[in-house]
Order: sequence, then C-alpha cells, then structure tokens
Amino acid sequence: MKLSKELTTLTFVLLTLFCSAQNNKQQHFEPGALWPDNNGVHINAHGGGLMEFEGTYYWYGQHMIEGKAGNRAMVGVHVYSSNDLYNWKDEGIALRVSNDPESPIVKGCIIERPKVIFNKKTGKFVMWFHHELKGMGYSAAKTGLAVADSPTGPFQYIHSVNPNAGQWPLNFTAEQKQMSFPKELKSWSEEWLEAVAGGLFVHRDFGKGQMARDMTLFVDDDGKAYHIHASEENLTLHISELTDEYTAFTNRYVAVLPAGHNEAPAIFKKDGKYYLIASDCTGWAPNAARSFVADQIFGPWESLGNPCRGTEEQMNTTFDSQSTYIVENPKKAGEFIFMGDRWMPENAIDGRYIWLPIMFENDKPVIHWQEKWQLN
Ligand code: DGJ
Repeated sequence: MKLSKELTTLTFVLLTLFCSAQNNKQQHFEPGALWPDNNGVHINAHGGGLMEFEGTYYWYGQHMIEGKAGNRAMVGVHVYSSNDLYNWKDEGIALRVSNDPESPIVKGCIIERPKVIFNKKTGKFVMWFHHELKGMGYSAAKTGLAVADSPTGPFQYIHSVNPNAGQWPLNFTAEQKQMSFPKELKSWSEEWLEAVAGGLFVHRDFGKGQMARDMTLFVDDDGKAYHIHASEENLTLHISELTDEYTAFTNRYVAVLPAGHNEAPAIFKKDGKYYLIASDCTGWAPNAARSFVADQIFGPWESLGNPCRGTEEQMNTTFDSQSTYIVENPKKAGEFIFMGDRWMPENAIDGRYIWLPIMFENDKPVIHWQEKWQLN
C-alpha cells in the first residue's frame, strides 16, 4: 500500500518535471527577441548559416563579445545544434582563434559569416568564412578554409585566400579582358561606375587574386558547391565553383550584378530557379534588401526588387536586419526561411536574429513581418 502511494507520488513528480520541460521548450520563432539556448544564454552565432546533417541542424556563426569592437574574433566560430529549429543546444566553439601571433587567425582578427557544408565524397565538414587579418581593417578581403571530421568540430584551419588569381570571370568578354582604364577616376562618378562594371577591380586584382568579403555557400542538386562573395571593393558579387572536395576554387567563376554594390548574399533554389537575396553596403546600419532570380547559378541574374513588404521603414531596413542565410522549411518542402542579423554595433553580443518565412507573390519571393510564427 505504502509502495503504491510512493509510486504514485513519483509518477506525479516525473510528469510535472516532463511537462515543465516541455513548457520551457520554444514552440515558435519570435524575430528580434532574445533567443535563449539550452543553457538560457542568448545564442551567439551572428552572420551565421545552417547545415543539416542526419536529421540535425547545425547553426554556425560569429561568436561576438561585449562592446563596440565586439565583432573582432576573440573566440571563434560558435556552433549550436537543433532538431526543430526553435530550440538550440550550445555545442561550443567549432573553430577557435589562435593565441599564436604568427597565425592568420590570431585572436583579434576578423572572422565573419562562417558557412559549413558536408562533402559526401570525403566525409569532411568544410567551413569557409570571410577573413580579415588582425590590425588591417577590411583590406585583406580573404576567404578562410577550415575542415573537420565532425559537424561540431574542432575545425582545423587550413589557410585563407584571395580566390581565382590569374583567371578571368567566365562571363568577361574578350574586350573586357583587353580593357585599360584611366588612372584617376573619381570614386562614384559615372565614369568610375562604368569602369567598375567593365572590370576595373578584376584587372587590378587579377594577379594576386580577387577580394572576398561577405560570403555564403550553396550546394546544388548535383552536389557541386559554390562560393558566393562580395568582391571588387563590394561593388560586384562573384560566384565561384568549388572543387569536388569543396576545399579549393576551380577558377571557374562569374562576376554578377556588376557595380550593383551588393553584399550579405543568401541563396536558395526553388522549382529549378535560383533566388538570391542581398543587401546594400552600409556597414552595420540596415538598408533595403534586394532580390534576384536566375535559371543558372552562373546567371544571368535578373532583379526582382525589394523582397520586403510592410511599412516604408520595414522595407527600407529589411525589418532592421541584414540577410545572412536562407534555409528550406523542414516542415514544408519548397518553402524557405529568411535568416537575417539585427546588428547591435554598440554591443555586438546583443545582436538579434530575424528569421521570417519567404512567401511567393506574383512569382517573386516576398517577406512580411511576423511577431511570432511557426514552421507549419
Ligand atoms: C556589413 C557586412 O555585411 C558585415 O558582415 C560586416 O562586414 C560589416 N559590414 C562591417 O562594417
């Protein structure tokens, strides 16, 4: 009798604990709110991207620190895991900065917008990230490579490069390859913009390799991977093919939307078409997003205008955010989620995440604000 009473009490306690654990679980997205991880700490994975592997999602992003210079890489790339995209478990630091002053990824350098893809052929997880050398501002404009045997790392840093040295974009004409440019052109003048569109910076960086700043990765249905980055002083995007191992550039690349001044590229494929969402270049301040469509990853890309819908302010600031990645909705195949960063330049660690569903209206991707929303 006593034993059955004790058993009933124990069952009740366990049930209460189970229910409260369920209640603590997040069941929706709340764009812009603090987003606690499994330890109750706001997720620290800015400029991030997701990778799905064997049914689990991994979220890689910049580990920011407190304060104004909080975007300096003092820790590295943070990784979290989730089975439902709402609740994230802290999996620690996937790529750690180095204490060795000789290392390119020494503490205090800049590591931004890390993205990871899995290579089926080698069984390796491949990370690329925008890398700036310590003390050199944003002038190095390199892309860094790191690889790991496990999705949570540790990732081994390999090197950083300015891609496609000595190669012309596939979409350059014979005339563009021969072009010469006047030495003194006033930045932002009509002649200068024309020269940029003609290949001014591709020529300048031809020997040493092209600039690579804001970036993303995209794996196509045939397993080929592409590195998409803001190049040419952020004036033109470059889309570059990666080798079968995903660890190097094949030197096949195109310069797209020349002189369009696009950064923060995020890409998805739907019904055989490629869609790109990018931003203007205004530092940490938000601006109006742009969207593009193409039948082939190498273009030509056609403008579809601002994908945001809502008030003028929401449209002009992308809901106070900047694109970083687009992921397919795991509950609704063929539907996609826009992931953006609401930067907090005064206290970088407090940056918020703006995840919103992408809808289609008149064959264009559009994004409406939602206070709270669910995958289904
Ligand atoms: C805008 C970029 O999108 C960010 O990743 C970062 O590089 C800032 N500029 C720095 O000002």
